[in-house]
Amino acid sequence: MKKLSAMLMAGAMMMSLAACGSSASSASSEAVSSEAASSEVASSAASSEAASAAELTTVTPGKLTMSTNAAFPPYESTDDNGNFVGIDIDVATAIAEPLGLELQVDDMDFDAALLAAQNGKSDLVMAGVTVTEDRQLVMDFSDSYATGIQSIIVKEDSDVATPDDLADKMIGTQRGTTGYIYCSDDFGDEHVTPYDDGLTAVQALVNGQVDAVVIDNAPAKEFVAANPGLKILDTAYAEEDYAIGVAKGNTAMLDAINGALEELKNDGTLQAIIDKYIKAE
Ligand code: ARG
Repeated sequence: MKKLSAMLMAGAMMMSLAACGSSASSASSEAVSSEAASSEVASSAASSEAASAAELTTVTPGKLTMSTNAAFPPYESTDDNGNFVGIDIDVATAIAEPLGLELQVDDMDFDAALLAAQNGKSDLVMAGVTVTEDRQLVMDFSDSYATGIQSIIVKEDSDVATPDDLADKMIGTQRGTTGYIYCSDDFGDEHVTPYDDGLTAVQALVNGQVDAVVIDNAPAKEFVAANPGLKILDTAYAEEDYAIGVAKGNTAMLDAINGALEELKNDGTLQAIIDKYIKAE
């Protein structure tokens, strides 16, 4: 698939998505503290390079506010008790800790979670966010902490066997995601239905409202395991890097995140977190 052109084209689309997403963003701003207060983090509180975050200011003093869309297992979801769980939650907790901050998770629509970080309503967005050239125009990204694959889910008896077979089909995606952006570029808007979250898209597939769902591989596996009669095609649609997004120009936050991430990579914590949620096949 023409991933590069998809990414370039996506620029205009993300912009227009961002523009129409303004109502979602105002809804989300109610969920997050609107007042950007500053919190000084004593450099002595943090060990490592993260300690250089002496002038780190956060949306709420003492807290690291993460915007996310917790409908994306195993990266973020809620457990039976309503607690946020997943790779991104554990990694964010491990980043917050050496900074002397408590993690605060704000759950909202995916496109709103991106906007919250862009607008400084959250300190960062962690939501299995793919780094794309177009997103890099409107926010800054940390070093990558995981890789993702856009995969295609179909019914077991589907005649769709490769990405090219998606032409003229109806494709379900989550609104604002790379799955939506790539598919609408490759096959046309009229062939892609955006849903609030991945599970709703998968349910539309089960009900026959769409012919396929394009979504990140790890959640795809969870949704297929929970919904009999579906399968994931062997051919990947696109490969991607996940990173943490912050407001453009917030270098203090970016440096603090990258410093903490490097520690988590070097001491094996990051891999241990990923292995806890994604079992080797
Ligand atoms: N990786 C895809 C993207 O960045 C999908 C991410 C969706 N994440 C979520 N928490 N719902 O567009």
